[in-house]
Amino acid sequence: MRDGRPLTGQNIVLVGFMGSGKTSVGRELARRLGWEFVDTDALIERMAGRSIPEIFRERGEPYFRDLESEAIRTATCGTRTVLATGGGAVLRPENMSRLKAAGLVVLLDAEAEELYRRVVNEGRRPLLEVADPLARIRELLEYRRPYYAQADLRIDTTGRPVEAIVEEILKAWKRYVQGHHYL
Ligand code: S3P
Repeated sequence: MRDGRPLTGQNIVLVGFMGSGKTSVGRELARRLGWEFVDTDALIERMAGRSIPEIFRERGEPYFRDLESEAIRTATCGTRTVLATGGGAVLRPENMSRLKAAGLVVLLDAEAEELYRRVVNEGRRPLLEVADPLARIRELLEYRRPYYAQADLRIDTTGRPVEAIVEEILKAWKRYVQGHHYL
């Protein structure tokens, strides 16, 4: 601690529901900053040697969540990284405290209908393989709302291009850096 402010990592973490744009925004943000981009879902797939739908099908969600926590532990060790997390990464307090200690946590938000339009027909989200995916999205969003609310910053992505979202995050990052001290 210096001047009462904790020393935190120099990273930007994107959280938010499936289809909120974490991967496309994260890639562009990392490119603009000249930082590394890490997607925890991709890391999990590499660790497990199989796809996320296969992990859910063969080993179940609790096993997936353990891999996710491990991926978050690995991904938060670095600095100058843009980290895109899976939509459920916020659910474990252990994950959230690591993500917050790693840097600025940004929530990408959108209405349920918009998220549905973005993920429908994709077929790679096991939690949405149900008869009524829109109802499931509403239900999960409602349940996760208090978890997502722990982010430092919320950005509504509805109808906005990636570039505009990236600009807003870059501005927030400048303010964040001014308020912190780094070793
Ligand atoms: C999940 C979101 C997915 C993936 C897994 C579970 C969730 O990631 O981690 O299917 O619980 O919301 P994306 O948010 O990148 O789709």
